[in-house]
Amino acid sequence: MNTTTTNTNTTATNTTIAVRTPSANYDVEIGAGLLASVGERVDGLLSGGIRAGKQRAFVVTSPEIDRLWGKQLAAGFPAPLTQLSVPAGEQHKRLATVERLAEELAQHGADRDSILLAFGGGVIGDMTGFLAAMYMRGIRYVQLPTTLLAQVDSSVGGKTGVNLAAGKNLVGAFHHPLAVYADTATLSTLPAAELRAGLQESVKAGIIRDCTLFDLLEQESAAVLSGDREALTRVVAASVRVKADVVNADERELGVRMILNLGHTLGHAIEVATGYKQLLHGEAVGWGMITAIGIATRRGMVSAADAERMERVIRAYGPLHSFTADASDLVALTAKDKKNRSGARSFVLPVGIGEAVVVRDVSEAELLEAATLIVAEANTAGVIA
Ligand SMILES: NC(=O)c1ccc[n+]([C@@H]2O[C@H](COP(=O)([O-])OP(=O)(O)OC[C@H]3O[C@@H](n4cnc5c(N)ncnc54)[C@H](O)[C@@H]3O)[C@@H](O)[C@H]2O)c1
Ligand SMILES: [Zn+2]
Repeated sequence: MNTTTTNTNTTATNTTIAVRTPSANYDVEIGAGLLASVGERVDGLLSGGIRAGKQRAFVVTSPEIDRLWGKQLAAGFPAPLTQLSVPAGEQHKRLATVERLAEELAQHGADRDSILLAFGGGVIGDMTGFLAAMYMRGIRYVQLPTTLLAQVDSSVGGKTGVNLAAGKNLVGAFHHPLAVYADTATLSTLPAAELRAGLQESVKAGIIRDCTLFDLLEQESAAVLSGDREALTRVVAASVRVKADVVNADERELGVRMILNLGHTLGHAIEVATGYKQLLHGEAVGWGMITAIGIATRRGMVSAADAERMERVIRAYGPLHSFTADASDLVALTAKDKKNRSGARSFVLPVGIGEAVVVRDVSEAELLEAATLIVAEANTAGVIA
């Protein structure tokens, strides 16, 4: 079950959210300024093994994150960290990088008791988690997410992996971290577009499962978008609670976990059609959610008032960047979605604020109508407000 405890210390208010699945049992801690105490916390999880020199910690990060936040992390560690460096960018989330990192681990003498720290955005988190799943048939790792998207979504739930030329995340493993420490202070250096795009995943969490989170995002958008730490920490905590709650109920995505894909069926199609180059993932998800809301509205599944509020909040965390694609190509691409089962297209539709369902009967005509509307809008200007 999902439990939440809030404790206050002198520097920040931290929230702890438990992930409890059949195969994993760990906490997600969220707070501003957490990085400084990660070393002590990780060492505590290992019963003092790092301090005693019995266990070694390896941090996987990019030169950019290291320059911005590396000192804060290293300063709190009871023993020196060994760093493995990967360049930023989705193009590096490949098996070749994992192999190179594994070779480096071996050269540094990493053993089964060593622990990896995934320090960066979702790309580093997914890749480090996969490296941990593979190295010596599985070692422990900790997630230290530094993007909004990684804090609210990718660091929690145990999905790890890399891309193939044939598609995203086609090679991977379920391998949960030992803990997740999300320091919301690190978001202060994140480019504004990355923050906004990541917040679409929080909007998604509110729409599918948590009307209180939705209200928070609706009422405090100015504070959230200005990077207000207290507001961001509340948003991250509530979003993680939704993700943890859903993962706790359905670890392997056999049922309810599918609702986390609201906006992703068409969103992925837009990303593929535009070669992942025209918009950020969260922006594509924003467009995808608008499509899903449109379909649900035309089906009479959601009230016009709720639909209007949802769309307004999505746009408040925009602008959703423009893109150029053909509506019928997008529809054809949704047929290839990984989530489809036995040829039927799975689609998540909102039925109210805080509730969504998975349906398998969205017709091509319905999809084409919805896709045509957003394609027309996305084509009209450089950036849509
Ligand atoms: N495992 C899952 O369940 C899951 C869920 C959603 C997404 N993902 C994956 O996550 C990845 C996307 O993650 P992302 O959006 O975090 O992108 P990302 O990891 O590429 O980070 C985005 C950019 O922000 C930079 N950055 C990171 N933290 C920063 C900071 N604090 N200050 C300044 N710059 C910073 C990075 O260097 C990078 O250039 C995709 O590969 C996607 O497949 C996985
Ligand atoms: Zn997503």
